[in-house]
Amino acid sequence: MMVAKSTAREEAVKKIKVTKTEHSRIGEVDFNNLVFGKKYADHMLVADFDGKEWVNAQIIPFQNFSVSPSNAAWHYGQAIFEGIKAYKDQAGNPIIFRPYDNYKRFNLSAERMGMPSVPEWLFIGGLDMLIDLDRNWVPTGEGCSLYLRPFMIAADEFIGVRPSETYRFAIINSPSGPYFNKPIKLLVQDKYVRAFPGGVGFAKAAGNYGGAMYPTMQAKKEGYDQILWVDGYEHKYLQECGTMNVFAIIGNTAITPDLSQGTILEGVTRGSVMEVLHDMGLTVEERPISIDEIVTAYNNGTLREVFGTGTAASVAYVEELSYKDNHLKLDTTKYEVGSEVIRRLDGMRTGKSADIHNWNYIVGE
Ligand code: COI
Repeated sequence: MMVAKSTAREEAVKKIKVTKTEHSRIGEVDFNNLVFGKKYADHMLVADFDGKEWVNAQIIPFQNFSVSPSNAAWHYGQAIFEGIKAYKDQAGNPIIFRPYDNYKRFNLSAERMGMPSVPEWLFIGGLDMLIDLDRNWVPTGEGCSLYLRPFMIAADEFIGVRPSETYRFAIINSPSGPYFNKPIKLLVQDKYVRAFPGGVGFAKAAGNYGGAMYPTMQAKKEGYDQILWVDGYEHKYLQECGTMNVFAIIGNTAITPDLSQGTILEGVTRGSVMEVLHDMGLTVEERPISIDEIVTAYNNGTLREVFGTGTAASVAYVEELSYKDNHLKLDTTKYEVGSEVIRRLDGMRTGKSADIHNWNYIVGE
């Protein structure tokens, strides 16, 4: 049960000690040329789980951690994270987009990885205090945002294999430009597998991304930007692509893989895009979709668009989709659905249009 926004913030204000930086680095950042994930805002949040409860919650100047070489996270991968974005509304007030959805998913990931849950005052209240303090770091340029990265790592100094007893939770924030600056080429991966039912595919666990590095490197060597993962049994049902969920627009229907196998991340952008597609009058189907169905739709002229959705990537157009000898080429300059989804989403999260779904969290009291 979520508490009221003001309650989470009030509790955070009581529990989180704030030490402000004496030297802001904001002048060193070129806000007109932001790339994704390279610069970090002045402050970060840290808190430790001592085996029983979360202690030492602090907002401090951005700095390195001192970590033992025997740290359990490095050896056995008990590490999870979230990606959230903050924007500014038309009056210049910072807004966080749907942080409660990420909060919920963070604790689901924590449970699956045998890690403690994080209380709402620390995650939501902490984000609120941190963005309030670093509000000048929220960019307003086209396609830009403050990318928020809450994460948790095991903290035990122990190389025996068992769940860590202690953990560190932290939030760092990065003023960022677009994740992709052009339409992408996807390779359907039918040899390597990202996730099986019963595994950790639905969790935002660091290892899911580590396991994808090698197959993605191979695809990049062949000129692709990302992999489109398919299921591990039949190697034909779509899962997700790279760092994103995937949508296909066939006729007037938007199709995205369903979550029932537990192999796909329940993307917050995925959920938002599904609602926006409904608002636009499309039929939205969340169901198994095979690569054969996509190829058939392409061949009979009904495949209109394919795009990825994710917090970092927002909506990324796919201009090529390759599967074995099929090279599907899509003209992304004609993407009417994807472009309207972006227009509506951007409008809502920057306060240009009404927040009809109540997605925006207004930072501050
Ligand atoms: C996000 O979209 O926020 C992600 O977490 C993807 C990423 C690893 C950059």
